[in-house]
Amino acid sequence: MDNLDPVNLANLVQRLARERSFFEGIFEAVREGILVVTRQGRIEYANSAACRMVALKEADVGKASLWRLVPGLRESLELAPDASLDGLTAQSREIELTYPEHRIVRLYIVPFREELGDGMSAERFAVILSDVTREVQSTEERIESERISSILLLAAGVAHEIGNPLNSLTIHLQLIRRQLRKLERTPGIEKIEKSVAVCESEVDRLDGIIRHFLEAIRPNPPDFQDVDLFACLEEVLQVQEHELQDRGLSVEIEAASASPVVRADRNQVKQVFFNIIKNAMEAMSPGGKIRVRLRADDDFCYIHFGDTGKGIAQDDLPRIFQPFHTTKKNGHGLGLMIVQRIMREHGGQVGIDSREGIGTVVTLKFPRRDRRVRLLERGQRN
Ligand SMILES: Nc1ncnc2c1ncn2[C@@H]1O[C@H](COP(=O)(O)OP(=O)(O)O)[C@@H](O)[C@H]1O
Ligand SMILES: [Mg+2]
Repeated sequence: MDNLDPVNLANLVQRLARERSFFEGIFEAVREGILVVTRQGRIEYANSAACRMVALKEADVGKASLWRLVPGLRESLELAPDASLDGLTAQSREIELTYPEHRIVRLYIVPFREELGDGMSAERFAVILSDVTREVQSTEERIESERISSILLLAAGVAHEIGNPLNSLTIHLQLIRRQLRKLERTPGIEKIEKSVAVCESEVDRLDGIIRHFLEAIRPNPPDFQDVDLFACLEEVLQVQEHELQDRGLSVEIEAASASPVVRADRNQVKQVFFNIIKNAMEAMSPGGKIRVRLRADDDFCYIHFGDTGKGIAQDDLPRIFQPFHTTKKNGHGLGLMIVQRIMREHGGQVGIDSREGIGTVVTLKFPRRDRRVRLLERGQRN
């Protein structure tokens, strides 16, 4: 210093000022908060990110105490008020702020020694603050979804267990019915019969809820075989024949000469057909007609299920595949969700076209068995 003339001194001061503003510029630009704190806890420097994160006023920089700002921090670092920082290693802590908004900030605290010359030194901390609110939240969300799946698993177990007593109830209700038939018909007996009928239908309902619930939450991977779609359709219609008759509905099938064969899980395909036909039946009044059309091109097999039912309101269309969306008094809102899941697992698709008051067409699209690999033309990917 003694050798510097005033011009050089001025130059040096200017250079130092430039460097200082250069570093300040960097410190202000980073997203992390930066604090420089004396051993006694006084905050000597804070960039604006740090001020924001710990709700520190800029005017208080140089006066405020970090120990006061974050109660318990000094104790948690096991730092006695006058102790030296020797031996203290870098440590991190998380703090939670509730004002002005809820945030979680991670503090990374690094002790350092500043040499002042002549064997003197000052002990300080640099504290780097990062906002980890998002990180913590996404961990919490993951835990939440794990919690939900374990609840589902538990529910599935319970639902499964309910199956056995339900079976036994069904059998005993049948026995009661049989016994009643043998008795002389009196008003008292008729009352009992009515109650038995109510019990039966409630047991049925419970059984339906549990079956649907289990199907919905337990996605089985498809067991792929060669499946004749037409044969599947016939089998399902046979099961539903009674209900179709009771409701006064007719079915018309239109198929191209060769029956389409796809790689699929037979039972799952039947489940899909069942759910779609069931919905069609429930949408129609006596005299209604279901028209099933099968066709195929080089790459896909299509099945269209048309009905003459009440159709779906425009507003409801985007929601029909969502679980538990139902417009029916006794609906579960799981049928179409299951249909969609199964079709996806088969590399297929399900589409719905509906006009209120006119009817609905559900279209299933299966990839063809003999066309598993297909070269896409440019712009053809969907
Ligand atoms: N063929 C159809 N005609 C009219 N509405 C339908 C048809 N298929 C489905 N929907 C509508 O989609 C909803 C969801 O169907 P779904 O998932 O099978 O559940 P659910 O049958 O238990 O209500 C039904 O409540 C109904 O409003
Ligand atoms: Mg349904």
